[in-house]
Amino acid sequence: MDSQITLRALSKFYKQGDEKIIAVDNVTLDVRAGDFIVITGRSGAGKTTLLSLIGRLAEPSAGTLAIDGVDLQSLDDAALSALRARKLGFVFQFASLIPTLNVFDNIRLPGLFADKLVDESRVTDLARMVGLGDKLNNRPAQLSGGQRRRVAIARALVNRPAILLADEPTGDLDVDTEKEMLDLLQSLNTQGMTIILVTHNPNLIAYCNRAFRMERGRLIENAPVIASVLSAVEGCEAIPNRHTEIASSRKPLLAMTFENL
Ligand SMILES: Nc1ncnc2c1ncn2[C@@H]1O[C@H](COP(=O)(O)OP(=O)(O)OP(=O)(O)O)[C@@H](O)[C@H]1O
Ligand SMILES: [Mg+2]
Repeated sequence: MDSQITLRALSKFYKQGDEKIIAVDNVTLDVRAGDFIVITGRSGAGKTTLLSLIGRLAEPSAGTLAIDGVDLQSLDDAALSALRARKLGFVFQFASLIPTLNVFDNIRLPGLFADKLVDESRVTDLARMVGLGDKLNNRPAQLSGGQRRRVAIARALVNRPAILLADEPTGDLDVDTEKEMLDLLQSLNTQGMTIILVTHNPNLIAYCNRAFRMERGRLIENAPVIASVLSAVEGCEAIPNRHTEIASSRKPLLAMTFENL
């Protein structure tokens, strides 16, 4: 099976005084095109750091990372920026919008880095998709926290990235809006977008085909359970309906157990 994102013994250390903080510890992972990966884990476990390494927003201290077979270590800054702009979309943990730009320009911004003109209609379509069609002229300070988060989701999608790295993308959202955003991500994933999503909400595992948790820098895959096997097991109604529904409609017929969360 081809690996779209290949992590080999990837680590990130920070020095704090005499202390060495191991934020990401020896992570090896193959992400396939079209995977929807959810990573949970306690605060400080290394989730954001891992996403930063995958997006090469931070340099690894050890190990290698390749995207579509290209070792990112071999790229200079310009080539790295081009690859990032072409292939990756980011939703940062802290929405990080540009405060002086309105919603329209914040969404359009990554297009500038991809060296291509983004159609105005694409920007307005995305704004509408995240429910902000009537806020195009608002600056971030004139939006709620959840609205800012939705601008960040639209911005991450503007270049039609092959890979979406999303750090708590639904953190400030109410239950209904969260579901709308996840349904949007799920439909993009069905169309082939790879998604790696970090969250504190274990319910989001229902959307993924591979679930992981981070513990003190280590990435641990939750045991997959074949949906068909699951349905043959007595008492499987204990698993929430939406979970089995979604899992059984997915191409790799996997459902995740909720153990170890
Ligand atoms: N720039 C930095 N300098 C020093 N230590 C850092 C730095 N960035 C992160 N860390 C440390 O690395 C560890 C992992 O941090 P990280 O932000 O990846 O955690 P997280 O799992 O995303 O947590 P949360 O769920 O709270 O967002 C933490 O102990 C954090 O204090
Ligand atoms: Mg984090």
